[in-house]
Amino acid sequence: MSKHKLIYQIYPSAVGDLRDIAAIIPRIAEKLHPDYIWLNPFFESPWVDGGYDVKDYCKIATRFGKLKDFEYLVKVAKKYNIGILIDLVINHTSIEHEWFKKSVLHDPIYKDYYVWLDKPLNWQSFFGGPAFDYSPLRDKYYLHLYDKNQPDLNWNNPRVLKEFQKIIDFWVKAGAAGFRVDSANVLAESDLKHGRIPGLPGFFEYYQKPQTVKVLEKLFSRKDIYTIAEPVGGEFYSKRKFHELTNKAFSASFNVGTLDVADSFFSTKDRVYPVKYRRWLKKLSKWAPEEKFSIAFESHDAPRAVSRFNTDPRLLAMLQFLLPSYNPCIYQGQELGVENAELSNNIEDYPGVQSRQVYRRLRRKGKSVAEAMKVVKMTSRDNARQPIDWGEYILQGNREESVLSFYERIIRLWREDMVIAEGDLKVKKITRAGVFDFERNYKGKTYKVHIDFTRKTPSTLMDDKGEVVIRVK
Ligand code: NOJ
Repeated sequence: MSKHKLIYQIYPSAVGDLRDIAAIIPRIAEKLHPDYIWLNPFFESPWVDGGYDVKDYCKIATRFGKLKDFEYLVKVAKKYNIGILIDLVINHTSIEHEWFKKSVLHDPIYKDYYVWLDKPLNWQSFFGGPAFDYSPLRDKYYLHLYDKNQPDLNWNNPRVLKEFQKIIDFWVKAGAAGFRVDSANVLAESDLKHGRIPGLPGFFEYYQKPQTVKVLEKLFSRKDIYTIAEPVGGEFYSKRKFHELTNKAFSASFNVGTLDVADSFFSTKDRVYPVKYRRWLKKLSKWAPEEKFSIAFESHDAPRAVSRFNTDPRLLAMLQFLLPSYNPCIYQGQELGVENAELSNNIEDYPGVQSRQVYRRLRRKGKSVAEAMKVVKMTSRDNARQPIDWGEYILQGNREESVLSFYERIIRLWREDMVIAEGDLKVKKITRAGVFDFERNYKGKTYKVHIDFTRKTPSTLMDDKGEVVIRVK
């Protein structure tokens, strides 16, 4: 079995229900042949954080359909040799989850399902603001690394582990081929103290403990599923340590850092930073040969890459598929060159919790509505969460010079050409402005790649005979 797995990410609410998703699979399969489709959460949820606040892990939200629709989707995908990956949110639930409602009431079984403290710590949540909230009913503080509607589970409680083992079994039985595991490195908090680094979530000092690794192994070290973990947390998420630690638990690791190391676009930021090409390309070339790392330039957590980098989408495709790339992830629409959405100037129209928090923070800092909205519009995750025109598959599919046809071609090379698939990487040049020259070497054959983000020269792939295989002007 090939080590190379192509993952295609679908954000369900931007497409429709599970039957609508099933209907677009043949188009995606015919052009890109992904090995897996990762679906963002489609479970019952109050939708405070785009479904990452789960109310019931085994119930599909009504608007997406029923279990039989999921089974149908699996069947369609299987016809094209595609496995469906479920997004498993294991760090936290929704505040509306039965477990939390009972935990608040000090129910003897559920009281320790979450992280409760008598006094809050000085931790900051990922979305800004304190990471502890007071519950008058329980007269204690609960931890939420994300929004206060997303209480953190207590992974020191073996009952929580059992619950998730049941959930995993449920979805595997329903036909899931594996899981994308949300916020996988920040579980199992115990013996918590104030954070040492002001302004950062204090858990940085607690994460990736042997305890976390043990939990993850118990949940995921099984041969019958593909699993891709998502470690989170500033500069930390790119650390090799987590990937090494969880070697047994996970098939691959979603390297958020590859989106853009400097986080220049990231929706938690209060202003837009320029892309730091040299730093990004250097890190990419270091990470790329790692078999378990993913390379992704887009996701539901970032604005569209074409807009962030203000570039030709084909240059990004060259980078993603001509570097060694074992688990590349494509986010729906990336292969069509989709740009940022035209978002509203009214913050009330933004469903994403993060955009609203950035907006409030900027307003508190004294920015005008217009200034705050300018930042929100450029950084919002909602940019990538809009419906796209799937008819483009037909239009672009028929045009040889289209972005989609380019993706089709480069993915075929990535799969079939041994130099691209297996060759060693030799970096020749990286400039601050974004010129990147590298070679791929395999059994005496050398390919030369030149990618120029300044677009002053054509970007090219040259094979061992000196012939230009790919050229983007
Ligand atoms: C990471 C997910 O990708 C993001 O969308 C979500 O807000 C957080 N985890 C919390 O679950």
